[in-house]
Amino acid sequence: MKTVLITGCSSGFGLEIARHFLERDWQVVATMRTPREDLLPPSERLRVLALDVTDPESIRRAAEAVGPVDALVNNAGVGAGAPFEFTSPALARELFETNTIGTMAVTQAFLPQFRARGSGAIVNVTSSVTMKALPLVSLYSASKAAVNAFTESMAVELASSGIHVHLVLPGRSPETRFGDNARREGLDSDAYAELVQRMLSTFTETSGPLTYAKDVAEAVWRAVTDPAAPMRIPAGKDAEALA
Ligand SMILES: NC(=O)c1ccc[n+]([C@@H]2O[C@H](COP(=O)([O-])OP(=O)(O)OC[C@H]3O[C@@H](n4cnc5c(N)ncnc54)[C@H](OP(=O)(O)O)[C@@H]3O)[C@@H](O)[C@H]2O)c1
Repeated sequence: MKTVLITGCSSGFGLEIARHFLERDWQVVATMRTPREDLLPPSERLRVLALDVTDPESIRRAAEAVGPVDALVNNAGVGAGAPFEFTSPALARELFETNTIGTMAVTQAFLPQFRARGSGAIVNVTSSVTMKALPLVSLYSASKAAVNAFTESMAVELASSGIHVHLVLPGRSPETRFGDNARREGLDSDAYAELVQRMLSTFTETSGPLTYAKDVAEAVWRAVTDPAAPMRIPAGKDAEALA
């Protein structure tokens, strides 16, 4: 039986990805900053583990506790809405620590076992904002574009290793807690008021093509299980249209 480890399973896409693999008879290691056993249906194939992607000791402990895994899904992430002019260095650090360096650190913790076995799948969840420039998400976009860049280079680096590497790029999904969890800075400035108003209404706007958590779960499933899957996989109707 194959095992997948997923980061950021307390809500949204991560929770749905965990559910999707459980329903398809995989062993699932659902990791969360604060582990909760009640979010997913009870199963002998489910393990809930603590993992904060910004904490090297937490990553080390999780990698040691879990043993061999066949697929790693780096899904944990945090968004931010802020005019770049008013974005603090602390927010920049937080976004890159979680979205970029966190993804890199978890990947590095699992690469040795994948390389030793000559197999494994790594799927990094980024965003369709890296395909189309949008205002007020400069740092978030940069943190995800950096993941695209290192993942693409790593895919070439690992081409003959038996390890396959993918990017899943979801579109906008008001269904998850992403908008509520997103950090906000400088949104009360008059200079950017109109853009801010437009952004805040898109957080909850549900008309037009959107991305659903199940689209992301299906894209991740395809990345992990379909040997013919492309390296970059858009998830959701809006992301597919952009790609
Ligand atoms: N929703 C969208 O519109 C959208 C679009 C494109 C891409 N994405 C990306 O999709 C991924 C999942 O987002 P979502 O929409 O499902 O949002 P979400 O509901 O806010 O879920 C984000 C998850 O990441 C976790 N997380 C945050 N910081 C963490 C850390 N330091 N260590 C471990 N886990 C951490 C959160 O855990 P806590 O509960 O502990 O905070 C939560 O489980 C993110 O990478 C996001 O950037 C989202």
